[in-house]
This record gives sequence, C-alpha cells and structure tokens, in this order.
Amino acid sequence: MAESDPLSTRQGQAIYSPLVLKTYDLWVLGVSNHLLWRCPTAKLRALYNRNISANHLDIGVGTGYFLKHANWPDSEPNITLFDLNANSLQAAAQRIARLNPTTVQGDVLQPLPEIGPFQSVGICYLLHCLPGTMAQKTQLFDHISEVMAPGARIFGATILQGDAPRNWPAQKLMDLYNRRGIFSNTHDDQTALEAALHSRFVSVRIETSGCVALFEAAKS
Ligand SMILES: C[S@@+](CC[C@H](N)C(=O)[O-])C[C@H]1O[C@@H](n2cnc3c(N)ncnc32)[C@H](O)[C@@H]1O
Repeated sequence: MAESDPLSTRQGQAIYSPLVLKTYDLWVLGVSNHLLWRCPTAKLRALYNRNISANHLDIGVGTGYFLKHANWPDSEPNITLFDLNANSLQAAAQRIARLNPTTVQGDVLQPLPEIGPFQSVGICYLLHCLPGTMAQKTQLFDHISEVMAPGARIFGATILQGDAPRNWPAQKLMDLYNRRGIFSNTHDDQTALEAALHSRFVSVRIETSGCVALFEAAKS
C-alpha cells in the first residue's frame, strides 16, 4: 500500500523504534494512562489476568509489559506474539524469553497465517493505532476469529473519542498523535465498538475508564 493511502497500516506501527520502545512503559503505561487517558495500568493488568489462557496469542505486543506481569495459569504457557513491527516483536520476546514465545510478523488487517487455534487473544491498545473507520478496522475481529478455538476469549483496550471524557491535555496529545498517524481514532466511539463485538462474539463486556474502553468477549 502507498504511504499516502489513508488505509495504510504503515504509520500506526512506524513509531515503535527500539528507542521509543525503551520509553514506552514509562510514558504510556506510567504517565499517559494515569494523567491523560485516565485508565490506571492496574485495570489493564487485571483485564489480562481475567482472560489469559495457557494457549495465548498477543497481537500488537509493544514492549510485552502485560505479558511479563500476567499471572499465567500454567508455568509453561504456549504464547504467540504477532506484530507488524519487528522491533516490538523483539522487545516483547526478550521481555518474556523465559516463557519461550513464538513470534510472527504480519498485519492484523490482513488474513492471519495458519496459526492456532488459541484459547485467548489479547489486543491491548491496538485498535486506536489502526487506520480506517471503526467498521473498517474492526474487520480484524474476523481475521482473529479464524484462529480462535470455540469458547476462546478475546480481550483488549482501546482509546476512544466520541463521547469519551477527555481532559484538555488528552485532547491536544490525541490530536497530535492523529496528525502524525500514530493514532487513527478520530471516529472511534463506544457504540461502534460494541456493535462490532456483538455482531461476532458472545458474552461481550465493555467497561470504560476515562477515554479507554476495556472489552472482553468469547467465541461461541
Ligand atoms: C500502542 S502499542 C500497544 C502495545 C501493548 N499491547 C500495550 O498495550 O502496551 C501498539 C502495537 O501494535 C502494533 N501494530 C500497529 N499496527 C499494527 C498492525 N496493522 N498489525 C499488527 N500490529 C500492529 C505496533 O507495532 C505496536 O507494537
């Protein structure tokens, strides 16, 4: 896809250089989650701990922070890391090296390769990085559903606009991130997210904290 294509997935992952990944946990999980997005990182850790299984696929892995701090239900879980950016894959794989994860590089807005089936899939802070309308970007759920076992859990969180409460610095930073293509969430709202989940999954639960929607659901 051309770089100027508004539906190109290149920009949403391009920022994750080794240097940026070194500052990610402090800036995003330490500062932004608390002061800007108003979703304490502890809530995201709890989301992981409620939903992870011993046969887990993580998509959009970043630094691997949540995988490192998760309470795995088994001492030798089968973990696959999937990301478009090789730096993220390397950082996350190193972070949880003792768990011996498998890494797969690819674009979640394309059909996934033959992997799985998995019992849980995490997509934390991925949707707001993906281009397109909520209806376009949530096509990732169709790709992910293909690699989920019956009854498997899908969960994650995403930063919304729409009616989501945002303080002034959060609005300004989000505008900047959208101008730079780091975020593409200008038209993302909770109603569209709910519709996308309900049309594909069962036992859908969405909780909001600040401008973050935390969601979890299951494949029937
Ligand atoms: C904001 S980070 C989230 C990291 C981690 N999940 C967290 O919550 O801290 C977004 C991650 O999604 C990856 N990503 C962005 N677009 C992607 C795409 N189209 N397909 C797969 N991964 C993508 C980025 O490379 C990056 O590792």
